[in-house]
Amino acid sequence: MIDTPPAPLRVVLLGATGTIGRATAAALVARGHQVVCLVRPKPGVDPRRGLPAGAEVRACEVTDPAALASEGFRGERFDALVTCLASRTGAPQDAWAIDHAASLAALKAAQAAGASRVVVLSAICVQRPLLAFQQAKLAFEAEVIASGLTYSIVRPTAFFKSLSGQVARVQAGKPFLLFGDGRLTACKPISDADLGAYLAECLTDLLLQNRILPIGGPGPAITPREQGEWLFQRLGIEPKFRQVPVAMMDAIIAGLSLAGKLVPKLAAKAEFAKIGRYYATESMLVWNPKTGRYDADATPETGTETLFDFYERLIRGEASVDLGEHAAF
Ligand SMILES: NC(=O)c1ccc[n+]([C@@H]2O[C@H](COP(=O)([O-])OP(=O)(O)OC[C@H]3O[C@@H](n4cnc5c(N)ncnc54)[C@H](OP(=O)(O)O)[C@@H]3O)[C@@H](O)[C@H]2O)c1
Repeated sequence: MIDTPPAPLRVVLLGATGTIGRATAAALVARGHQVVCLVRPKPGVDPRRGLPAGAEVRACEVTDPAALASEGFRGERFDALVTCLASRTGAPQDAWAIDHAASLAALKAAQAAGASRVVVLSAICVQRPLLAFQQAKLAFEAEVIASGLTYSIVRPTAFFKSLSGQVARVQAGKPFLLFGDGRLTACKPISDADLGAYLAECLTDLLLQNRILPIGGPGPAITPREQGEWLFQRLGIEPKFRQVPVAMMDAIIAGLSLAGKLVPKLAAKAEFAKIGRYYATESMLVWNPKTGRYDADATPETGTETLFDFYERLIRGEASVDLGEHAAF
């Protein structure tokens, strides 16, 4: 039997200038799809912003449904929407504007353009929603499922960039910071390229369709303490950890929340502190409601690159971490 590759699709990609969006753009182009990236117009900035030559880039204000139609979809036909659009701050208002409202407007525009498939970058943390941005994502997920389109809702575990902030600290001889004893949480980190490939595969792999897909990188699951231990050993430095009690974060959140009732800026800071506390205490693994625990074995894996492969590349200067402007995630 001759194995024919799937036919190329005409795909609208949102969030292409983000960490995972970039990797997804590359993966879609590599699979031969015709990719149109709708990117935020920025005065004096080339809209292409380093996106792959094989992708078409259109400057378009995705928060404006009229611009989405006239400058984005332009009355053309598309087969699929892939969205990696996400609030860069996670602040409640921005999350509802981007992760929900703009994403929903794009879903409707894609449907009007004839699209029959949608692939959504979500997050594994929405399974235990305590934060505003998680509620916004869940509300959009529900709209996607109700849309009648063939959908893949991808809920990844932790990204490498979110776990790499302490490499330079340790190289500079500073202690590795831990919440509690550093064993409160674990995750199966996933690389940008492995996640981009997985999102692209969702367009054509029937097994990945009409499903909510929690997904991690290659196991085993690792704790923050193990990340620190690996770094100290690799760098030949005597391990030095500084433990931050979770109770201290709770006190900060309580103080900021109270002050936030009077000063809105402090309410926003309280939300960021809550986001920090969430990731300090919740594992990025599949949650088992029956046992009331996170389950590493039940967390599916994809790809090949491990976090420690990435740390190795960072240490050798072969990779860098781009957190982007004001990035919270
Ligand atoms: N970090 C983690 O460990 C982790 C793990 C699992 C899931 N997640 C989820 O993954 C998502 C973050 O992915 P990422 O790191 O790839 O995102 P990112 O790098 O922050 O990129 C966000 C994308 O959305 C666009 N965007 C944001 N606000 C916009 C606006 N107002 N108008 C137009 N475009 C806008 C950005 O455009 P610009 O370039 O113009 O800003 C960018 O293309 C979040 O939803 C997070 O919950 C994160």
